[in-house]
Amino acid sequence: MERLHIDLNEHSYDILTGHGLLDQAGTLIRRVWSGSRAVVLTDDTVRDLYGSRLEQSLSAAGISAAVFSVAPGEQSKSMKVLEHLLDFMASHGLTRSDLLIVLGGGVAGDLGGFAAACYMRGIAFVQIPTTLLAQVDSGVGGKTAVNLESGKNLVGAFWQPRLVISDTSLLASLSAREFAGGMAEVIKYGCIFDRSFFAFLEGCSDRSELMERMPYIVHRCCDLKRIVVEEDERDTGRRMLLNFGHTFGHAMETIGSYRRYIHGEAVALGMLLAMAYGRLTGVTEEDPAPALIRLCQRFGLPVSTDIPPSAMAEHMLIDKKADGSRIRLILLKNLGEACVETVTKEELIQRMQQLDAVWGK
Ligand code: GLY
Repeated sequence: MERLHIDLNEHSYDILTGHGLLDQAGTLIRRVWSGSRAVVLTDDTVRDLYGSRLEQSLSAAGISAAVFSVAPGEQSKSMKVLEHLLDFMASHGLTRSDLLIVLGGGVAGDLGGFAAACYMRGIAFVQIPTTLLAQVDSGVGGKTAVNLESGKNLVGAFWQPRLVISDTSLLASLSAREFAGGMAEVIKYGCIFDRSFFAFLEGCSDRSELMERMPYIVHRCCDLKRIVVEEDERDTGRRMLLNFGHTFGHAMETIGSYRRYIHGEAVALGMLLAMAYGRLTGVTEEDPAPALIRLCQRFGLPVSTDIPPSAMAEHMLIDKKADGSRIRLILLKNLGEACVETVTKEELIQRMQQLDAVWGK
């Protein structure tokens, strides 16, 4: 088992990573929490796959848990579902010393984390992320949120978990598409922070080899994220670098109505577009795109889209990373080194029009 300590003063916690940790969850939780009552938030798919193993492990450790399960998918990250969850927690008599345990992917993690942040002005929660995306990104770092009709993640809080338990063997049940989507976030860490990690990924041939090395891969990504979260928990400085590929990617997700591309696919395309943008403006020195294209192709991620960059500009301007007239873009100086570039609305529109001529050609 790999253990990583996130040092955030009184909000510090550990991320534990390894094959088979789900069956030890009760004992591991006991080390950081001494209460007796818990609610488990999960989704219907994950509950059917792993719910009873978690319940057994909790009950063996003397933790009695009531399970609240939501429909899988983004529609569960709503104010309505949040209200039902909070009511469920109240009806089971959860007090400020009790615990919320989240077993699931990014949707359950964001929803549950936010419920924990609001319930009785904040209670402890434990993340047991079950997707690759959640194990390397959304399940660690304390960003929690639900969506409004007007946009994604518009209501949320920074609320750190008490413990993260990442059982990498659970990733075996992911569909090929979800696994590939998670790999986009893994590759992102190599692009922005660590060229040798990128090279390590280039040395992995397929999913089964990745699965063998997954405890190291998840641990390495979390360690790279740890550095920026410890420095900038509230996302006003270096943490923004984690958004590499996301501003372009969110525009593609929106244009595709969240059906055409799953998040990781849009991030893969967004990283490629950010590289093209960086080359166009001279920020990116050597061209990292051929290496990224090879890696994306190997792991089943898209490398081109027929959405023209000029069509993305207006969607990028309403992204949370924009402040009305200016937008912050995350670009690469080189493979393994990212930077923040602030551009005006006019410059963005002009550059994206110029990219129409080269993108996907
Ligand atoms: N998902 C980006 C962050 O946690 O900052």
